[in-house]
Amino acid sequence: MSELSGQVAIVTGGASGIGAATVALLAQAGASVVSADIQPAAREAPGRFVKHDVASEVSWKALLADVMQRDGRLDILVNNAGITGGWGTIESTTVEQWRRVEAVDSEGVFLGCKYAIEGMKKTGPQKPASRGSIVNVSSVAALIGSAGPTAYCAAKGAVRLLSKSVALHCAEQKYGIRCNSVHPGGVDTPIFDPLWQAMGHEQGRAMLGAHHPIGDMAEPEDLGELILWLASDRSRFVTGAEFVADGGLTSGLSRRNLFGTR
Ligand SMILES: NC(=O)c1ccc[n+]([C@@H]2O[C@H](COP(=O)([O-])OP(=O)(O)OC[C@H]3O[C@@H](n4cnc5c(N)ncnc54)[C@H](O)[C@@H]3O)[C@@H](O)[C@H]2O)c1
Repeated sequence: MSELSGQVAIVTGGASGIGAATVALLAQAGASVVSADIQPAAREAPGRFVKHDVASEVSWKALLADVMQRDGRLDILVNNAGITGGWGTIESTTVEQWRRVEAVDSEGVFLGCKYAIEGMKKTGPQKPASRGSIVNVSSVAALIGSAGPTAYCAAKGAVRLLSKSVALHCAEQKYGIRCNSVHPGGVDTPIFDPLWQAMGHEQGRAMLGAHHPIGDMAEPEDLGELILWLASDRSRFVTGAEFVADGGLTSGLSRRNLFGTR
């Protein structure tokens, strides 16, 4: 029997990048996966696609109702959908830009946690270790400052502490639901399409990779493996914790992140 067989997972932003890799890995581990995204998933992608806007409470209610009706349970939620909102400092970010990024990257995760807990509480029979696992995809932008994008840094920082608040509440209530955050450095995904269009994929990846001490960007699967572990009972004693996968970016100063070279 596969590790996650019989379990039901929702992955937001499951149509692209880290989300798509996570959908594939969770499905490979035996879970029934719902890929929830504003854009359609690839035809050959595993799991079931549901059109979903994480910024809308109505959409979350409909998604949870659909999953509970069709699958009868929810074991795993990966709050992965996110946007950068483009570059913007405190001076250049407009209120509209700010609100859009907070709505998707911060409020979307709040809504996801809120409605997933409701679904997970109804899930039974209880598994040996935990009833549910919530994995929130934040960023290194939640750990170290940057002049921009301001709204993105603020939203990802909010997700980091929201995850701990959710973890502590669920532990205190003895729900058996865990919640952790993941903090990627640069991952080669379509989120960088504007940069790839401006300078070419190879050159852009080399430029961003050079800022990571390890010397390269991550592949989406590198993050998917970490998310899979956090989703599974192999991490059953882990909650309220933050997991950095950034090629050493936030470890301290290195020649690479100082000068972009060795
Ligand atoms: N790629 C990186 O370097 C990197 C680094 C740190 C954190 N992250 C975070 O990882 C997550 C995934 O990013 P990615 O790099 O795979 O990006 P991506 O652009 O490849 O995928 C993001 C997905 O989210 C979906 N999405 C956007 N708005 C949505 C909404 N309102 N409702 C539902 N779905 C929505 C998009 O349609 C897309 O499929 C994001 O939260 C991002 O902030 C990425």
